[in-house]
Amino acid sequence: MLTTDVANLAEQVMVRCRELASFSEDAGSLRRTFLSAPMHHVHRTIADWLKPLGATIRIDAVGNLRALFPSDATDGPRLLIGSHLDTVPNAGCYDGILGVVLAVALLEALRGTDLPFSIEVIGFSEEEGVRFGTPFIGSRALVGRFDPELLEKNDSSGVSVRRAIEGFGLDPGEIPQAEITDHAFAYLEFHIEQGPVLERLGRPLGVVEAIVGQSRMEVTFIGRSNHAGTTPMDVRKDALAGAAEWITNVEHVARATPGLVATVGFVSASPGAINIIAGEARATLDLRHQDDDVRNRSVRDLLDQAEQIASRRSLSVRWVTHVNQAAVPMDSSLKSEVEAAIRDAGCEPHRMVSGAGHDAMILAGKIPAAMIFLRTPGGISHDPAENVQTGDVAKALECGIHLLQRLASSEKIHARTQRE
Ligand code: HGY
Ligand code: MN
Ligand code: MN
Repeated sequence: MLTTDVANLAEQVMVRCRELASFSEDAGSLRRTFLSAPMHHVHRTIADWLKPLGATIRIDAVGNLRALFPSDATDGPRLLIGSHLDTVPNAGCYDGILGVVLAVALLEALRGTDLPFSIEVIGFSEEEGVRFGTPFIGSRALVGRFDPELLEKNDSSGVSVRRAIEGFGLDPGEIPQAEITDHAFAYLEFHIEQGPVLERLGRPLGVVEAIVGQSRMEVTFIGRSNHAGTTPMDVRKDALAGAAEWITNVEHVARATPGLVATVGFVSASPGAINIIAGEARATLDLRHQDDDVRNRSVRDLLDQAEQIASRRSLSVRWVTHVNQAAVPMDSSLKSEVEAAIRDAGCEPHRMVSGAGHDAMILAGKIPAAMIFLRTPGGISHDPAENVQTGDVAKALECGIHLLQRLASSEKIHARTQRE
């Protein structure tokens, strides 16, 4: 593969990511949530890029885009390469989508190369958890962990997951068919780092050691709404003041615990008028750590503090846990192959933990999984300023080409090929 070809492919990856970013639910910013209308455009556009390569393309029952190369490879070992197609609100152009577009470019780079395994490119329909508060809907279906109860969960406009699936033209009854077969022997995900580490080190590519565990919750303080002007301070049951005290505690605990990150990203209060004491205040909590014991202990500690604040202020407090996802190590032999392939591409690899969650943590529950990080200029993500360097995309493509060639000659694949 000539360097110029890789450079041209990298340029094309950048153009394509920006093209897909135009498919949004919002005018003027990027939001593309689970099975929203713009997802149809994304599916059609990626399918158009894949067709000339000769692929069977399907959309499975939870809206994952699934493209198989070569198209007749129904049997034999299969390598999965993918990432997610959905975004957060006010998103950047690369979180998730870069991994899918880069997988397409890899296939273009390897066109005509005979590999002892087939490749399935996967664009997951839902990783961020924005629409229904439940992340990883797409990848859970792939590993047979789709919870049927989720079908009845409603979004903020009262539409259930079931209706969202049917409204997209899919059949919830076919969700079990989305599960991968035993042919799948590994999963690779290329993804922007979304943080400052690789940039600080001056390294284009990183190898993900493990993905931190995460807890996502909603904590609601309940008091008594009342007149802001006539209610003396010593008799108030101000839910928002209680929530505010707890939110500062969240930050204190995170700053005091090495490796812990904790975020209150959303607060709402009701009735929500300037001259009414809030009777109810709801705060979200996103808490992450690579050690599950530390994470769970920190959650417990913060909930104890919420209860103490509530009782001191004559409030009550309740909480809902949306996600309790354990930390997930990436596959050690795949990590070594990735590290060697990064060196083959002329880069010095850096092993690091991912503070962001990824579909790889779900796939890792079923098959060996590995992630390759690309440097994130400015360390900014989940924001329109999110970026990636074209040169680093070219390096990632070179790494991917070497990686697939390494996997092709690895004993494990040959052992599988004999067995299949
Ligand atoms: O929030 C995350 O960890 C990822 O961006 N889904
Ligand atoms: Mn994200
Ligand atoms: Mn992502």
